[in-house]
Amino acid sequence: MGICWSRYKVDSQFHTGEDSRYVSRDAHDNSNTDSKGSSTSVSATRSEGEILQSSKIKSFAFSELKNSTRNFRPDSVLGEGGFGSVFKGWIDEQSLAASKPGTGIVIAVKRLNKEGLQGHKEWLAEINYLGQLSHPNLVKLLGYCLEDDHRLLVYEFMPKGSMENHLFRRGSSFQPLSWSVRMKVALGAARGLAFLHGVANQIIYRDFKTSNILLDSNFNAKLSDFGLARDGPTGDKSHVSTRVMGTYGYAAPEYLSSGHLTTKSDVYSFGVVFLEILSGKKAIDKNRPKGEHNLVDWAKPYLNNKRKVFRVFDPRLEGQHSPKRALQAAEIALQCLSMDPKLRPNMDEVVTALEQLQSRKDKAKNDQIDVQSNRQGYSNGEPKSRGSTEPEAARVNAYPRPSASPLYS
Ligand SMILES: Nc1ncnc2c1ncn2[C@@H]1O[C@H](COP(=O)(O)OP(=O)(O)OP(=O)(O)O)[C@@H](O)[C@H]1O
Ligand SMILES: [Mg+2]
Repeated sequence: MGICWSRYKVDSQFHTGEDSRYVSRDAHDNSNTDSKGSSTSVSATRSEGEILQSSKIKSFAFSELKNSTRNFRPDSVLGEGGFGSVFKGWIDEQSLAASKPGTGIVIAVKRLNKEGLQGHKEWLAEINYLGQLSHPNLVKLLGYCLEDDHRLLVYEFMPKGSMENHLFRRGSSFQPLSWSVRMKVALGAARGLAFLHGVANQIIYRDFKTSNILLDSNFNAKLSDFGLARDGPTGDKSHVSTRVMGTYGYAAPEYLSSGHLTTKSDVYSFGVVFLEILSGKKAIDKNRPKGEHNLVDWAKPYLNNKRKVFRVFDPRLEGQHSPKRALQAAEIALQCLSMDPKLRPNMDEVVTALEQLQSRKDKAKNDQIDVQSNRQGYSNGEPKSRGSTEPEAARVNAYPRPSASPLYS
């Protein structure tokens, strides 16, 4: 969640290999000076007490979370990131007290790794942002725990895990995501970013990548991890100056070179993620042939070449998209990846373009699935079972789980 540790990131479902996090060593985080006199910066202007008091989420006792995750049992681990491990747990829907596994609602409990040095700031940023924001494309933060040196965050459980797992996990039991599901996820994630950029004190997410896009049982995308999020520039300022932090392969070139952060930095990261979604290839992969390690560098020359653009697309899509849609999608990626931030569209424009990209059939199908899931409601954090009269919903839900682990069942 936006922290740089020189350690390997291990995920119980997917090994990403080398830790791709970075933080600049020479630049200074100018957050304090930039936000002087305004109520824009998370850390500079609101004290921990103010943030915790004003958040409307529950403060959990450590013992409650210990009980709900069966003492943080290793077989409850959903995944692991820079912040620490994420555990599956159970709480009572009404009282939010720990409940017996299998009863109440399912939660995901993220526990800060105590060896981490920068975790507290990110933990607080998550509460500051997610504790106040609410949007269908942002993951719900249900509560937190601050007790002695324990720092935990409690989220709604996302049954299909992260988009990273769905895109890059290989195995005979894993079907590739269909074109319509990929477009649905891209649109949902774009809406999440557009929402952040559109709020009164605009928010720059700064850590947009496929592992931070979580998926509900209907492939609705929800952004998680606001540890690196920053308030956007205020007044006549064009950018926020920060220490460069994020994940290799996703950060905008001007942000990397100058530390100048704008909403257009997120748009660039969206372009990288969209390219990953279209190609099924990771942003950085040293196992690819020489000259192809960096996805953007490799793909860019093809994106505006009508005859060669198809080389970029994931062969596992097997032509589910029309050539026209493929070209439109390539054009969106290319614009988001413009070197000059001024030439990039804003996220509202990206949302509009992605909406147009969805075929009418797909849109109707996705809307139908959403309506059905709303009607059915959830019990125990899982969708209720579907009858045979709902073929579309059943088909999408028949997609492979992100992990062979029963935790994602
Ligand atoms: N709310 C959730 N519901 C279900 N699974 C989750 C949830 N939050 C996280 N996970 C799982 O835990 C994994 C680790 O999440 P985490 O956000 O800590 O790290 P990450 O995003 O993979 O990496 P990074 O630290 O670089 O952001 C995710 O990839 C996902 O599989
Ligand atoms: Mg994450």
